[in-house]
Amino acid sequence: AQKGGYEHFMLKEIFEQPTVIGQTLNVYYNAATGRVAMPALPFKLADITHVTIVACGTSYYAGLVARYWLESLARISVDIDVASEFRYREPVMKKGGLTIVISQSGETADTLAALRYAKSAGQHTLAIVNAPESSMSHEAEATLYTHAGPEIGVASTKAFTTQLTVLACFALALAEAHDTMDEAEMARLTHALAEVPARVSEVLHHSEAIEKLAAKIQHATDMLFIGRGTSYAIAHEAALKMKEISYIHAEAYAAGEMKHSPIALIDEAVPIIAITPHDKLFEKTASNIQEAAARGGRIVVFSDAAGIAQL
Ligand code: F6R
Repeated sequence: AQKGGYEHFMLKEIFEQPTVIGQTLNVYYNAATGRVAMPALPFKLADITHVTIVACGTSYYAGLVARYWLESLARISVDIDVASEFRYREPVMKKGGLTIVISQSGETADTLAALRYAKSAGQHTLAIVNAPESSMSHEAEATLYTHAGPEIGVASTKAFTTQLTVLACFALALAEAHDTMDEAEMARLTHALAEVPARVSEVLHHSEAIEKLAAKIQHATDMLFIGRGTSYAIAHEAALKMKEISYIHAEAYAAGEMKHSPIALIDEAVPIIAITPHDKLFEKTASNIQEAAARGGRIVVFSDAAGIAQL
């Protein structure tokens, strides 16, 4: 593996995302029909009425995003837990449910133990794994590979976004099998999915602006990441990366929870990083941002053009 002119592997892998998300979409999305296409699975998607997601670290946060998608798009109930808790808490599992384990390496001991527990509890099992020929892909009933290529950097980047790619396709396939979405909405979302590699490239073009922004808050010793819905899950992943890469203490909060005490922490020394695309929860998060600003917080907002225009 070569760094290909990048300063370190993590940076190289961040910039590989448009390509590897595209590679992953090529496997689970049929551009000719404009529909998601799952490989043959040993269970019927239409029979799945409950999903349990288990993983560790960044892979767990990919699962946390997927919970929103599976519930809202496929109307399927979802439980989710970190593997190190799940494996020891003797969870009660209804037979016939589907347990999804998510892992870049396919070898994380707690996630593997969770997979074995789910099998022994009569669950169908699906592994979403990046590394080929891993223990999880051998032991799960079915595997959906992320096609991120080898991830050399210790911090997961492209593995995370390709996990999200597979999970988005899987959520749409489940929605199709359960007939929970109308044609127009399905077409809108599959079209949006196909655009993801190009959109990620656009974001990467802002890398200089992002670097300048980071320089402004680099001396902070604490940060709060806030969001609602899938952006709340992303806030967790962002806080994990901040701790892991920058050694800066960071916490994620559901934006609506701020008023229930973390707001006491806000002052100009603790930047608030708000993740808030212009979705149905935008107005709600915008009002949380205003509350934080009124307390003298320094706010950094990650949004889209429509969101920024309204702030
Ligand atoms: C964070 C990170 C870890 C892993 C976790 C699970 O950047 O890399 O949190 O996500 O150790 O590893 P896998 O996905 O291999 O099971």
